[in-house]
Amino acid sequence: MIIAPSLLAANFGQFAKETVRASKAKADWLHLDIMDGHFVPNISFGPEVVRVLRPLTKMTFDVHLMCSKPEILLEPFAKAGADLMTIHVELGERVPQLLWKIRSLGVKVGLAVNPPTAIANVEPYLNQIDLLLVMTVNPGFGGQPFIQEMLPKIQQVAAWRRERGLNFHLEVDGGINQKTAVECARAGADTFVSGTALFGQRQLGRAITKMRESVTRAAVDMAPSVLTLTS
Ligand code: DX5
Ligand code: ZN
Repeated sequence: MIIAPSLLAANFGQFAKETVRASKAKADWLHLDIMDGHFVPNISFGPEVVRVLRPLTKMTFDVHLMCSKPEILLEPFAKAGADLMTIHVELGERVPQLLWKIRSLGVKVGLAVNPPTAIANVEPYLNQIDLLLVMTVNPGFGGQPFIQEMLPKIQQVAAWRRERGLNFHLEVDGGINQKTAVECARAGADTFVSGTALFGQRQLGRAITKMRESVTRAAVDMAPSVLTLTS
């Protein structure tokens, strides 16, 4: 189980300090939301921010590109220190080339799907990716409520993964707190992005440990029913 605090919910004037705080709090990954003011109606930060944060921690840098033209950003973010880069399936016919480009840069490959987009759109790519991100809010802003209707999508992706013997991460992002993380874990998610619910805590380490423990427990509790279903 991977807990990935989202820097979008940190203090924008103190990214270095907040990154060290997440690292000391034993976050597994740091989620970095890149917004271009076009694919989503908000702007966040660029490769230079990633570059200056890179030496501060060994955490995996999980770069989520909510951008209309990721092709111009892949190399700069790879050079800046991204370990994993996620592009959106909504980019349509450009997706195969973008996934290939990310791989060619020596970075792990992620694919994201927005709430209104049918989950069938990601199916052709499942054997080409290291991570599938099911958005559980419409991207653009932190602090939005979790969309319950996304749970069946997570279940569907988890079923495909199981049936095909694949092992990509199944990540959820948006409105993830201690309660919704457990619901997603029961549906099959293993990687949990959480902004507001984690960075808002004074005791970040405690909140991360609690989330990791409860999603691990939820997944273990679900294991027998999965076995029953498939046997
Ligand atoms: C939403 C971003 C998320 C965001 C999540 O567009 O992709 O990563 O930071 O924030 P919370 O956890 O506050 O919903
Ligand atoms: Zn994100």
